[in-house]
Amino acid sequence: MGVSAGGIAPLQGVDAGQSPAREPVIVSKNLTIGYKLHRERKLLTALKDINLTIYKGEFVCLLGPSGCGKTTFINAISGLVPPWEGSIEVDGRPVTGPGPDRGMVFQDYALMPWRTVESNVRMPFEFQDLKLSKAQIDERVARYLELVELTGFEKSFPYELSGGMKQRVGIARALATEPKILLADEPFAAIDAMTREAMQSELERFVTKTRQTVVFITHSIDEAITLGDRIVVISRRPGRIKEVIDVNLPRPRFDQELKSLPEYAEIREHIWRLVKDEALSGAHGDD
Ligand SMILES: Nc1ncnc2c1ncn2[C@@H]1O[C@H](COP(=O)(O)OP(=O)(O)OP(=O)(O)O)[C@@H](O)[C@H]1O
Ligand SMILES: [Mg+2]
Repeated sequence: MGVSAGGIAPLQGVDAGQSPAREPVIVSKNLTIGYKLHRERKLLTALKDINLTIYKGEFVCLLGPSGCGKTTFINAISGLVPPWEGSIEVDGRPVTGPGPDRGMVFQDYALMPWRTVESNVRMPFEFQDLKLSKAQIDERVARYLELVELTGFEKSFPYELSGGMKQRVGIARALATEPKILLADEPFAAIDAMTREAMQSELERFVTKTRQTVVFITHSIDEAITLGDRIVVISRRPGRIKEVIDVNLPRPRFDQELKSLPEYAEIREHIWRLVKDEALSGAHGDD
């Protein structure tokens, strides 16, 4: 079902529901992915039969219980894990590995401990030839560190930072190359409530401007409703799509008292029931 509320206002100002101009960017067809558990000598199915099309400029949030395969799904989009069955395509081509069109904010930050903050953000430019001069790269690194409020910490090493600061370095690193697709794995999980709201607002403003397509994992229903054009609720492992919910609340969402809208409460209640059902249903692995 789609819980609709008010006028549709996806990030690009294009009707995400009906416009013929919608351009598919990420297409997952019957995608099943698992892992070989060497110790137990068995296979574990993480995701099962995922059919999902994500359109250009859309902000899609993934919500579901721990271990349901959310990280696995964005790893498949970024080319870090291959499909077992089915397919995953980006811009009409099967994903075969990572590329500069996809930037990733990792759940565990994935910072290089021997590199400074600045050097961590600079790293993707060393692996991807983006045809930028050194001065342009310097400007990007400084600009994105400023965006995540880490100016002044350029020379710090990761061990000198708090969890939230490390996470913000990871966000700056993913954004600095200005990828067409941003894959964000719980990017605000380690950030305090006040900064988190500021960063949500900043991200909404930012991706509206850059027209990036975003796949964003969160455990927060409120964060998903605040940011998402659509919310994909995934069931327990093996993860299947339980429901895709349209969030047709007006944007920019940070300029209004979103939470006081009756539509907000309606969507929240609906998602809460879905998530609660999953939490209470218990594990039922079929692997
Ligand atoms: N490299 C791996 N090797 C073996 N099993 C893995 C590997 N990565 C993930 N898994 C398993 O796949 C399942 C899905 O994991 P995944 O990390 O995608 O879940 P998630 O939804 O991101 O969870 P969380 O919300 O806790 O981050 C889990 O059961 C996990 O144990
Ligand atoms: Mg995860």
